[in-house]
Amino acid sequence: MKRTFIAVTMLWLCASVVAAPPDGKALYRENCASCHGQNGKGDTGPKLVGDASEWKTKLFERAVLNGIDDQGKPLKSPMPHWSRASFKSDNGVAPSKAEVDAIQQYLHTLK
Ligand code: HEC
Repeated sequence: MKRTFIAVTMLWLCASVVAAPPDGKALYRENCASCHGQNGKGDTGPKLVGDASEWKTKLFERAVLNGIDDQGKPLKSPMPHWSRASFKSDNGVAPSKAEVDAIQQYLHTLK
């Protein structure tokens, strides 16, 4: 009985540490929308919805983190190279792939 209780408690603890996935919508709005538009349709930056949003995850991550597009070409300024920067909510820590993936997933929901 006691063992079961401990096992269940441990599982619950693990589940709460793994916790919620990053909020792609909030991350996008805070860090990307100013250039790519509230709805990802582009502004000073190119549209992402229906374009880069459809790239393979690895290519999208590479573009956002390292500033290299799907053709292997460097992305020009002012597109930030996010591996050398930080999302507003991350207080100086470079973005994780999970955060970038969450942004791409959010872009998928936009039409
Ligand atoms: C300060 C403006 C600015 C911000 C902020 C910005 N971008 Fe960009 N982004 C650009 C510009 C300009 C380009 C085009 C660069 C080029 O063509 O060389 C670009 C290009 C891209 C591309 C490649 C698109 C393509 O079709 O080639 C992706 C993907 C991208 N941005 C994602 C993001 C994401 C995700 C964020 C937020 C985490 C973000 N950008 C924030 C300006 C910005």
